[in-house]
Amino acid sequence: MTSAGAVTRILLRKNLLKNGRVAALPNTGFVKFYSAAPTYENIKINVVGSKKNVGLIQLNRPKALNALCMPLFIELGKAVKDFDADGTISAIIITGNEKVFAAGADIKDMQNQTYSSLQRAGTLKGWDEVSNCGKPVIAAINGIALGAGCELAMLCDIIYAGEKAQFGQPEINIGTIPGAGGTQRLPRYVGKSKAMEIVLTGNFFSAQEAEKMGLVARVFPVEKLLEETIKLAERIGTHSPLIVKLAKQAVNQAYETNLAAGLLYEKSIFYGTFATNDRKEGMTAFVEKRAPRFKND
Ligand code: CAA
Repeated sequence: MTSAGAVTRILLRKNLLKNGRVAALPNTGFVKFYSAAPTYENIKINVVGSKKNVGLIQLNRPKALNALCMPLFIELGKAVKDFDADGTISAIIITGNEKVFAAGADIKDMQNQTYSSLQRAGTLKGWDEVSNCGKPVIAAINGIALGAGCELAMLCDIIYAGEKAQFGQPEINIGTIPGAGGTQRLPRYVGKSKAMEIVLTGNFFSAQEAEKMGLVARVFPVEKLLEETIKLAERIGTHSPLIVKLAKQAVNQAYETNLAAGLLYEKSIFYGTFATNDRKEGMTAFVEKRAPRFKND
């Protein structure tokens, strides 16, 4: 049985999938799989990098400044899940366009919601697909990342930004608060005082300030951002996928627990790497002065 993710990949490799849609239906054996390939309205997906091992997801609702409506988020979750399940993908990038990452949750969708309608729908629970992803997820942000856009970036493992990027949690301006992790993740990145200032004023802050605060790992010229982010993903892709996954789990544990429990967790993962062939291969390659040949094992 071929999964939808595998079908997507076959189509991307054969340049048959354009902007999340099947571009042509040639008379080949692939035709039978087309019905399983996902078509996306609000995102574009692609496989990039010199080894075609980086999954690229581009938010694509430009008229609404990529406001994160529920269908977009369902599509995003599905794309992340598919790339995570695809053994040939090493890392995933989430980006927008050169002017906007995302202007937040869709205010027009939310305008007439009620407490009970949000409860019934379990609004924003679908975000777990991004945070549950085992592979590294990197946000590449040009332009604005506001409200849930900033919160989506914070769900990712690494944030790279273009020099004109603007961040903010402006929910207070529209009578609500960040609801997709902003009040919890932002203080973990930037500390309480800065987080309070950002959440209580709704003021925007620049890529340079975000880098200074530790929210953003690096800032690049706008036109270089995606290229540099792909380079980062490719660099991660040179390592053992198995060990990358364990390293990601260990770093994330620092945000879930106290220091003593985190150090214990780290030690058990460290010892655990000695049960893998890739750890053995990595150290053997070092001693033999050659490049390692990792097998994800
Ligand atoms: N939801 C829905 N539509 C949005 C939107 C949003 N978050 N942000 C922008 N848009 C729409 C606008 O309504 C407008 O659509 P129309 O052309 O149909 O009127 C279009 O995108 C362009 O927007 P503007 O004309 O406002 O563009 P601008 O350049 O003048 O201003 C902006 C840009 C400063 C980002 C401004 O659009 C803005 O303040 N947007 C809202 C930002 C915000 O408050 N985000 C938080 C949302 S709440 C949230 O995210 C909750 C949560 O934590 C889960």
